[in-house]
Amino acid sequence: MTKYVINGGNPLHGEVEISGAKNAAVAIIPAALLVDGVCRIENIPQISDVTTFLNILKQMGASVQLVDKRTIDIDCTGVGTTQATFSLMQRLRASYYLIGALLARFGTADVAMPGGCNFGGVRPIDQHVKGFNALGAEIGLTNGILNARAAGGKLRGASIILDVVSVGATVNIMLGATLAEGNTVIENAAREPHIVDLANFLNSMGADIRGAGTNVIKIRGVEKLRGGFYSIIPDQIEAGTYMAAVAGAGGRVVIKDVIPKHLECIYGKLREMGVTILELEDSIVVQRLKPLLRTHIKTLPYPGFPTDMQPQLSAILSLAEGTSTVTEGVWDNRFGYVDELTKMGANIRVIGRTAIIEGTSYLTGASTKAGDLRAGAALVIAGLCAHGQTEIEGISYIERGYEKMISKLSALGADIKTVYVPEESSVMQEVV
Ligand code: EPU
Repeated sequence: MTKYVINGGNPLHGEVEISGAKNAAVAIIPAALLVDGVCRIENIPQISDVTTFLNILKQMGASVQLVDKRTIDIDCTGVGTTQATFSLMQRLRASYYLIGALLARFGTADVAMPGGCNFGGVRPIDQHVKGFNALGAEIGLTNGILNARAAGGKLRGASIILDVVSVGATVNIMLGATLAEGNTVIENAAREPHIVDLANFLNSMGADIRGAGTNVIKIRGVEKLRGGFYSIIPDQIEAGTYMAAVAGAGGRVVIKDVIPKHLECIYGKLREMGVTILELEDSIVVQRLKPLLRTHIKTLPYPGFPTDMQPQLSAILSLAEGTSTVTEGVWDNRFGYVDELTKMGANIRVIGRTAIIEGTSYLTGASTKAGDLRAGAALVIAGLCAHGQTEIEGISYIERGYEKMISKLSALGADIKTVYVPEESSVMQEVV
């Protein structure tokens, strides 16, 4: 077993480069199935969710070539199966994007029910199914496998009004509609930066998608897409996580290679907490000069405050002066990390969808366990701020979505390392 060990208390100083966006990459990689020819994709993040997805495509017959550490060529011309390896799919939430991509290309798909982070509640896919039904496909579920079949072997454009704003359903319908016959309109669509990035990728390969970034997306189906080049946007949540880490641990860090507009809702809250933020063209300077102030947060779909930053902000609010509240407005339950922060001395009560956080003057290192990706990020931040040593198990969750977190934080002055603990022993060995 490997775990992270952090000796807290070091302020962070220097520069950190932000990687490509995880949630854009996991939508764009399956979109390559729609393309005739080679897609060169730049700014690919080196995270395990991307590796898993590329392995799924390879096992389906795609050619995936590494051009350099951030650039890949994907050619799905050789894909001849509509079935992917179910065990790999179950490791990944975004594997359900294969339904839209395979239905678009072959009119049929057999995909395992998706895995991914579990926040403690259900993660329904009824809006995906509603969208595919409107496009003329039937979806069945047999022994955990989703079987999708387009009537007449081809999807047909339709008007779809989503009942809830869903990133996944918006992406899946966009994938399906790109090669469908006729026009599709998605109303109440998600507006996240990765939705716009997927539309830009598809349009650069010959699709006709308008309105991405607003809540009405219009797609005119085209016959085929051709190969091309595309560079993935920077990861808004990775950038926000480092911003929160500096706000909590103190210091001054330049967060490089970002799109500041995507971070406005995050740094707006950090400014309310007394953190100094300077916005430059493609970087943000974060500095904490005084104690953190309380604030109130409610997560909402973009452009609201992102749910994927909620645990990280709760971690630093547990050190702010006064009482803060954090209300989860996207997921039914996303407070699984609270018990772990409590072990470190945080004073947090959860009532329904709201966490009430009484600020405390310090946290203390403890043995903790990450239950999902962003919960893990919150524990890392808490460990950086805490007195003494923090151990974090469950780091495979963190590595699904954060590229080289240990080396990026170490370069900023954090005392953090990965250690290997042999199963039968309590002796820890540093992983090199
Ligand atoms: N929902 C439904 N029915 C559906 C789909 C969603 O009721 O068919 C509900 C969900 O239960 C939730 C809300 O709609 O209450 C939003 O869910 P959404 O579909 O937008 O989430 P997702 O596509 O499954 C993506 C990200 C998540 C992020 C959410 C919200 C990916 C791969 N995942 O999930 O990212 O929390 O959008 O922004 O893009 C993460 O990166 O840590 C992460 C969990």
